Amino acid sequence: MSEPTFATPPKTPLAYREARAAAEAPAEAPAEVVAPPPAAPPTIGPTGRPLPDFPDPGPITEHGNATVITMCNQKGGVGKTTTAINLGAALAELGRKVLLVDFDPQASLTVGLGINPNSVDATIYHLTMERDTPIDEVILKTRVPGVDLIPSNIDFAGAEMQLINEVAREQVLARALAPTLETYDVVLIDCQPSLGLLTVNALTASHGVIVPLECEYFALRGVAMLKGTIDKVQDRLNPELKIVGLLGTMYDGRTLHSREVLQTLVDGWGDAVFHTVIRRTVKFSEATVAGEPLTTYSSESPGADAYRQLAREVLARCHDA
Ligand SMILES: Nc1ncnc2c1ncn2[C@@H]1O[C@H](COP(=O)(O)OP(=O)(O)O)[C@@H](O)[C@H]1O
Ligand SMILES: [Mg+2]
Repeated sequence: MSEPTFATPPKTPLAYREARAAAEAPAEAPAEVVAPPPAAPPTIGPTGRPLPDFPDPGPITEHGNATVITMCNQKGGVGKTTTAINLGAALAELGRKVLLVDFDPQASLTVGLGINPNSVDATIYHLTMERDTPIDEVILKTRVPGVDLIPSNIDFAGAEMQLINEVAREQVLARALAPTLETYDVVLIDCQPSLGLLTVNALTASHGVIVPLECEYFALRGVAMLKGTIDKVQDRLNPELKIVGLLGTMYDGRTLHSREVLQTLVDGWGDAVFHTVIRRTVKFSEATVAGEPLTTYSSESPGADAYRQLAREVLARCHDA
């Protein structure tokens, strides 16, 4: 073995021996550092935020004590009715007993579930305007297991005028729906596109409100006014009322425009915006024509899955639904 060389020669034999021993000692193997596995980067959802997991809420043991949620936006064609049908059907797939309330004289919800509005004997009109109508006479079973419906038809168009002269006119729907709460887990009310007395009735009868918004620039313009109505109802009539979420609908991720609208929505409303976004697809119109939810018409389609995810997100936000 060759003599070790030293930058500064050791001065004494002892120092020399120690220095030599140190130089010849096998280099100590560096402690093995186990690098943590690289954390998977969070998936960024279409709203630009990390997408959380929405766990399957599991079955429930007892039905009743329903959570009432209104689909509300004074604009038409934004996906209120489509959301009521498909969210309702997706909640029923999760074992919830669901009652859908068609609170629009246009009766799109009734038609969308394959029921002819002109052939029904008793409607939401009778329930709200003729006090002695038994609720069982008004509730119809639909073809979707676990989903019942209170239908509407054009008779209901006169209701708003008639309501004006009622005592406690804002609470008429809340009173009418009260007996259903013990049977169902979720009641979804589909509003007409207005912020009038009927919508105020729906908000007064609800625990929560979902605001569907088409991902188009003009969609954002009415939201402040809608929030004003929600605040007034909360303040004067229904302190329990909460915004469950704002739902971007008819989203087209290929267009910068759609992405910008969603971003503006999140900038203004933060976590009130659902992580779930409903993409634009012609399948929704096809399902309406077929008179069924997309979850049964095209069960495997991405649109159906989007509403299944929304159902889990809604349940996560409404703890007792
Ligand atoms: N995500 C979507 N993609 C494409 N079309 C849709 C979507 N959601 C709804 N639609 C269609 O848009 C129209 C209006 O929707 P609807 O739910 O009736 O709105 P609203 O109840 O707010 O008036 C309907 O023809 C419906 O089938
Ligand atoms: Mg509608």
